[in-house]
Amino acid sequence: MTAITAVTVRAPAKVNLLLAVGPVREDGYHDLVNVFHAVSLFDEVTVRRAEPGPAGAAETAIEVHAAAGGLDAHLAEVPRDGSNLAARAARLVAREAGLSEEPVRIRIDKAIPVAGGMAGGSADAAAALLACDALFGAGLDAAALQALAAELGSDVPFPLLGGTAVGTGRGEVLDPVPARGRFHWVFALSEDGLSTPAVFGEYDRLRPDAPQPRGDASLTTALGAGDPSALAAALRNDLEPAALSLRPDLARTLDVGRQAGALAGIVSGSGPTCAFLAPDADGAAEVSAALEKSGACERALTAYGDVPGAHIVDGPASR
Ligand code: C5P
Repeated sequence: MTAITAVTVRAPAKVNLLLAVGPVREDGYHDLVNVFHAVSLFDEVTVRRAEPGPAGAAETAIEVHAAAGGLDAHLAEVPRDGSNLAARAARLVAREAGLSEEPVRIRIDKAIPVAGGMAGGSADAAAALLACDALFGAGLDAAALQALAAELGSDVPFPLLGGTAVGTGRGEVLDPVPARGRFHWVFALSEDGLSTPAVFGEYDRLRPDAPQPRGDASLTTALGAGDPSALAAALRNDLEPAALSLRPDLARTLDVGRQAGALAGIVSGSGPTCAFLAPDADGAAEVSAALEKSGACERALTAYGDVPGAHIVDGPASR
């Protein structure tokens, strides 16, 4: 049997259908009820075995490219060193597989906006976990991969799972929610990123009396019925006022999308991407065109949800 030398995994972006945020905890995190929905924007991560350097050093090398149709903006901000979440994922899997030094080369083809509130970095980490598990023959099961993902970040477990799921705790404890049919989305991308800790900090300033976060049965019902109008009425993001406080110009972006026929428009996660739910694929194309024409965003993309979680597209399981 020949050793596997490279594995490519595709992982989806997410939009938050409900982001209910409680008060800040002692560890600095916030308890959340966070309904994640995976959408059809995918990063691809390829992990290859690398030769150890002359001194036997196990250096991880990272390359980042814009995927076909992807955005160049902010690619320069993606860390190329061991601090990249995908490199940290590779080290965690090597540790679990009992390998002390495992030099790898990681290539990331990005279609998910960087620093956009769509969990692109988390998708790359989830993809790297799955790719390294296959490459190193670690044999980790879904629960073990989920535990490693939660070590890497609150939003990393979801892109492994995909579909639609409610996250509790700091967002990392996941419970799948059935969604029927296909929901059509438009994402308005912004030139400037927003920092997640800064948006949570602004939330604490605006909502010192935040209540414990709660779910919403009408959201679950709308998803199960595949009803976009009912889903639109149930969309909610507690971080939106904080994101708008830091980026007041996003109010115009939301307005343009709603005027163009979106059933609803919300800030995605901690922003600055704005997400619009359209009645159907044609409606999404119209909202996207109106947003681009208005100049109220850097670029608009259409996508649908939900879609499956991270999966191998080239490597052992795809053969
Ligand atoms: O878990 P992760 O490192 O992705 O979180 C990034 C930042 O987002 C945290 O440092 C924290 O400021 C904020 N956060 C939070 N509460 C959560 C998740 C994230 O305050 N439940």
